[in-house]
Amino acid sequence: MSRISEMLGSRYPVIQGAMGVICNPELVAAVSEAGGFGLLATAFAEDPEMVRDEVRRTKELTDNPFGANLFVMNPLAAKFAEVLAEEGIRAVTVSAGSPKELIPLLHDKCVKVIVVVSAVNAARGAEAAGADAIVAEGAESGGVQGFQGISTMVLVPSVVDAVNVPVIAAGGIGDSRGYRAAMALGAQGVQVGTRFIATKECIANGIYKNTIVEVGEFGTGLVNMGRFQIRALRTPLAEKMIKGEKGPDNIFTPAALKEAWIKGDLEAGVLAAGQISGSVHDILSVREVIEEMVDGEKRSP
Ligand SMILES: Cc1cc2nc3c(=O)[nH]c(=O)nc-3n(C[C@H](O)[C@H](O)[C@H](O)COP(=O)(O)O)c2cc1C
Repeated sequence: MSRISEMLGSRYPVIQGAMGVICNPELVAAVSEAGGFGLLATAFAEDPEMVRDEVRRTKELTDNPFGANLFVMNPLAAKFAEVLAEEGIRAVTVSAGSPKELIPLLHDKCVKVIVVVSAVNAARGAEAAGADAIVAEGAESGGVQGFQGISTMVLVPSVVDAVNVPVIAAGGIGDSRGYRAAMALGAQGVQVGTRFIATKECIANGIYKNTIVEVGEFGTGLVNMGRFQIRALRTPLAEKMIKGEKGPDNIFTPAALKEAWIKGDLEAGVLAAGQISGSVHDILSVREVIEEMVDGEKRSP
């Protein structure tokens, strides 16, 4: 059993990455039921009781362990951390900012902390701050990222060399080839986002899922949000933003993201997704995705 599976209490070292407003309890529970480790997202939660409610709804659907993501940019992250600990969550990821304040608070409550980074220095800093594991997230991943642009292929072995805690690879992993490649780079687990949007259990709108299935390798681009950027599908709105014809106002609020991601209003917000969209060709069940990933022989020599 890998150190990551042991830490998380999951059968496989496959973490479903947090995904803003589309980490519905049904998706998270399905991942944990299939042997992975589901994560609830709190990035857009507006009240700690919303987080508690999501944890309780997920517990009704699975007895297997699952975790949650704390998004440092959300000013309520420390409050959410307390709720997660009270509800018995044993491992969280911390992303989008410095983990320094959250780690002692979570360790006090015996919660393992996995820090998401996109550069080697940040990985060293997270380890020094007490991180139990690192997610090394390459620039091909979907969602919020910085401006470093380091690919998973380069970032993962560099982080593996730089730290002593286990490393989980993220960004561009969608099937058994990506899983095996991540392990060959020295990772002990994978975190997967985009592939889980195109599943039956994800609450994302059909337009969102089908666009992931239909696009090729040029299907995503980087939308500049000022302090950060978002890798998103090249919808007409994203194209306008990439060309600088539209600013980032009002597209990254909880309401806008629900309109776009769940209801399918493509003018309300951009659809975050990674480059791996180009090789996702079907909408599967979560179990099918995980079983192919860990046991499959897709295009092996
Ligand atoms: C729609 C979407 C929303 C995301 N939201 C979050 C988030 O709330 N917190 C976070 O830490 N990462 C977030 N991510 C990143 C994922 O957790 C994961 O690290 C990433 O998707 C991995 O790369 P992949 O998309 O190539 O699989 C998001 C990714 C996507 C596609």
